[in-house]
Amino acid sequence: MDERLRDSLAKIVEFYDQRKVGDSGPLGFRRSSDLATLLTCSERLIREGIIIPGETAFLDLGCADGRVNLFFSYLVSLSVGIEIDEWTLDEYGPLRSSLEAALEKGALLPPPENIFLFQGDATDKSLHDAIARRTGRTLRSFDVFYTYLMMHDVFAEMLAESARKGAIFMVYGLDAILPQYPGFRLLRDMSPMEGILALYERV
Ligand SMILES: C[S@@+](CC[C@H](N)C(=O)[O-])C[C@H]1O[C@@H](n2cnc3c(N)ncnc32)[C@H](O)[C@@H]1O
Repeated sequence: MDERLRDSLAKIVEFYDQRKVGDSGPLGFRRSSDLATLLTCSERLIREGIIIPGETAFLDLGCADGRVNLFFSYLVSLSVGIEIDEWTLDEYGPLRSSLEAALEKGALLPPPENIFLFQGDATDKSLHDAIARRTGRTLRSFDVFYTYLMMHDVFAEMLAESARKGAIFMVYGLDAILPQYPGFRLLRDMSPMEGILALYERV
């Protein structure tokens, strides 16, 4: 990772981690991933060839305000998110504008034009069709899927049917006990990364 990219990612981490949502209280259901943790994980994800800079197609199932998409957009070729709550997804634009101003002020890299966020149910096939029309990618041609725990088992079932062999399903928010999903192999030597991110390979 070159220095300007690293500094840009550090700014993104600082920006969003100061604005985490719902660790407790009424918005607990839409907890935010800790981007500092993802930054630490991303070095190894790249080293292990799980994320190939400029090549990987990434999909966050339940993307909320799109922060994980924004973070990974710098490291992948395509960063797609799906969020069921319109009002949650609405936060993406204003947050992104403030972030862009902060990046510009620091002469850092602006977000690449590879982020596409969709409102709807991530298990809805007609939405997958809409994503394919817009991005040229069906679920089968995404390389890495991400989710923050909530619907992990439902999403795993969907991906067992729709994802290609070798695709990676990352589940954030896990601890010592790691679930098994039919159709997936837990990458035991890597999981849980930073004690919280488990990786599964579609077999
Ligand atoms: C815990 S938040 C995680 C947000 C973001 N991915 C992150 O890690 O910071 C989970 C999000 O999934 C959304 N969600 C739940 N079920 C969904 C579904 N079936 N389709 C799309 N989004 C869903 C929720 O509204 C919530 O915003």
